[in-house]
Amino acid sequence: MKFLALFASFVVSALAQSIDITIPAPYSNITAGRDIVVQITKPVTMDPSLEEALVISMATCDPEALEQDCNGPNYDVTERLGAILYNGSYTPERHQVPPSVPPPYQNFTVQVPQLETSQVSLIVTHFSLAGIGPSPFLEVKNIVLNVTNPAVQS
Ligand SMILES: *[C@@H]1O[C@H](CO)[C@@H](O)[C@H](O)[C@H]1NC(C)=O
Ligand SMILES: *[C@@H]1O[C@H](CO)[C@@H](O)[C@H](O)[C@H]1NC(C)=O
Ligand SMILES: *[C@@H]1O[C@H](CO)[C@@H](O)[C@H](O)[C@H]1NC(C)=O
Ligand SMILES: *[C@@H]1O[C@H](CO)[C@@H](O)[C@H](O)[C@H]1NC(C)=O
Repeated sequence: MKFLALFASFVVSALAQSIDITIPAPYSNITAGRDIVVQITKPVTMDPSLEEALVISMATCDPEALEQDCNGPNYDVTERLGAILYNGSYTPERHQVPPSVPPPYQNFTVQVPQLETSQVSLIVTHFSLAGIGPSPFLEVKNIVLNVTNPAVQS
């Protein structure tokens, strides 16, 4: 019983640490070689958590290959992070005053690399320390984006 209760509270606090990719919207058009803003939002929770690291990357999608079909059920985002566009600290901040208070976020400007597919997976890997233990918390989230000028395969 005790074990179950501990496990449940761990799951709750782990979920509560989760970040969201709030910009760009899924399936937005992006252009290789151009900069885009990636906005990572951290919903407000009661649980203390210490931000440790964030990695933003982009991996190609291929509907012909089961494991690389980013829209398919077999896609495992943790298998392939692709090109690393940012790695470093994550320091989300509040950017507006009450009464309109959006949750804290941080904008990252990254350059879209040359990729050979018309869709890519934008992947955010997030590591923090959760709770008073603290316990390590690692999550990998993604959205799919459309590339308007995929590089020609050589
Ligand atoms: C991106 O591609 C998807 C699937 O091909 C399509 O449904 C969606 O409308 C596209 N988005 C834009 C902004 O064109
Ligand atoms: C991570 O960032 C550092 C500093 O910007 C850079 O030197 C390093 O090459 C990056 N690592 C990867 C895997 O991109
Ligand atoms: C973050 O980026 C979004 C989209 O470009 C922009 O609307 C917002 O003002 C930016 N926030 C800050 C604090 O620069
Ligand atoms: C997205 O790109 C597609 C193909 O290049 C184009 O047809 C469509 O108009 C674009 N959509 C937006 C919202 O820019």
